[in-house]
Amino acid sequence: MDQTQTRIRISHILAKKQSGKKITMLTAYDATMARLLDRSGVDMLLVGDSLGTVILGYETTLPVTLEAMIHHSRAVSNGAQRALVVADMPFLTYQASVTEAVHNAGRLLQEGGAAAVKLEGGLPIADTVRRLVDVGIPVMGHLGLTPQSVHLLGGYRAVGKVQDEADGIMQGARALEQAGAFALVLEMVPNSVAEAVTAALKIPTIGIGAGPACDGQVLVSYDAFGLFDSFVPRFVKQYAKLGEALTAAAQEYVAEVEQGRFPGREHTIYPSGQAQ
Ligand code: KIV
Repeated sequence: MDQTQTRIRISHILAKKQSGKKITMLTAYDATMARLLDRSGVDMLLVGDSLGTVILGYETTLPVTLEAMIHHSRAVSNGAQRALVVADMPFLTYQASVTEAVHNAGRLLQEGGAAAVKLEGGLPIADTVRRLVDVGIPVMGHLGLTPQSVHLLGGYRAVGKVQDEADGIMQGARALEQAGAFALVLEMVPNSVAEAVTAALKIPTIGIGAGPACDGQVLVSYDAFGLFDSFVPRFVKQYAKLGEALTAAAQEYVAEVEQGRFPGREHTIYPSGQAQ
């Protein structure tokens, strides 16, 4: 690590909320992407279980295993010099028992090199969050659209439009804060609900499809930079079209090889006739 760089810590994230500075987070799944994103000055890199859809090609995040999360977290931790690395706990690695959650979260820190874990859910997981924090594992919560509950929710949809759901989000947010979570992702919740939760909590809210009132924002990097473009949610701004650029570059390579234009002399290590 470059010694002049200050690694982002949980205390920096909390201080940003206190001083009214916006917090930034992007997903990353490998060391190269982590290195490139880290250079942007982003505060946190999330090894999201969205890797199930954007990297592994599944339809949901449900098939993602703890081993896969550890593997990708290790890669991201190797690439990130400054950003705080948060790793998602995948489906069924924290719901069955508190003991199992502690072991599994511990592996994400110990083997994956993450500095914190993220769990989906509110009140029902508050005791687990408390225990994780008690043993020294920083926890980020995740409320609203919780993709691991896609079947119960009846699809990927906004959550919190009806009063019952909005109340559940507020109740869950307070419970997570009391349990010791250091931040909370709000996914696809109405702006008004995100605003109310953000005002009610001392810990920062990080929104995705939750409007501008949140203390910070997170996007799936493959969405934001145009690598995963089969479906672009309305709340995603595409800052680049890297997918198009990549396909165009690959087409140029294919054409040049087929036409015998690559490799040229400048890309040949031992041009013919030269002594080896
Ligand atoms: O898995 C993920 O990428 C996430 C973000 C959408 C917040 O949880």
